[in-house]
Amino acid sequence: MIYKGQILVVTIDGPAGAGKSTIAKKLAKALEVSYLDTGAMYRALTLKAMRESVNMESEDDLIALAKRTVIDIENLDCGVKVFLDGEDVSQEIRTVEVTNNTFYIARAAGVRSIMVEWQREMGSRKSVVIEGRDVGTVVFPNATRKYYLDADVEERARRRYDELIAKGKEVDFSDVLNDVKVRDEKDFTRKVGPLKKAEDAVVIDSTKMTIDEVVEEMKNKI
Ligand code: C5P
Repeated sequence: MIYKGQILVVTIDGPAGAGKSTIAKKLAKALEVSYLDTGAMYRALTLKAMRESVNMESEDDLIALAKRTVIDIENLDCGVKVFLDGEDVSQEIRTVEVTNNTFYIARAAGVRSIMVEWQREMGSRKSVVIEGRDVGTVVFPNATRKYYLDADVEERARRRYDELIAKGKEVDFSDVLNDVKVRDEKDFTRKVGPLKKAEDAVVIDSTKMTIDEVVEEMKNKI
C-alpha cells in the first residue's frame, strides 16, 4: 500500500518482552499496512536447524541451511502466519527450546546478511511496520519512522511469565527473569546486528503504559 503518496516503513526495535509484537501488529492494523516480524524468521530457521540436527556452532553449516530454506510471513485474515518451506510453523517456533536456540542463528554474520536481504525484499514491496532488534539500524536505516521500545527487565519478565502461565505452563518467575536477562545479554553484545537504539529512533518506555497508549503515541508521531 502506498501511504499518503509514499511507501511507509516503520521500524520497532527493542529487547525481548517490551511488547513489540502486540504493538507492531496493532499499529500496522491502525495504519492499514503490513506487519513483518523479523524474530519469526530467526525462529523458523532455528526450528529447521533443530529438526535437521545441524551443527549450530558451525556458521558455514548454518549459511548452507539458510540458502536451502524458504521462509514466508503472510498477513492473513486469521492472523499472521509463518511458513517454513511451505509448512505453517506459526505455533512451533514459539517453544522455549526454539527461543533458547535462536542465538546461534542470530550471532552468525553470514546468516544475518541473508536474513537482512529477505527482510529488505519483503519490506520494500509495500508499506510495513517491521519489528526486531536491528531493523532501524541495519535493515531499514532510511525508514520513515523509527521506534525503540523499552521496558524494565522485571516488567518484561513479568509479561512473559503471565503469557506462559496463561498457556498453562508451569514456570517459576525467577527462571523467566533469568532467561530474559540471558537473552538481553546475547542481544546487546553480539558482534553483528546487536540490539541498539538507532540515533534517530524515538524511545518509548512501555513499563507503565498500556498497549493502546503505546500504539496511540506511535501513531500520533507518524
Ligand atoms: O523477537 P523474538 O523474540 O521473536 O526474536 C527471536 C530471536 O531472534 C531473538 O532472541 C533475537 O536474538 C533474534 N532476532 C535478531 N534480529 C532480529 C529479530 C530477532 O537477532 N531482527
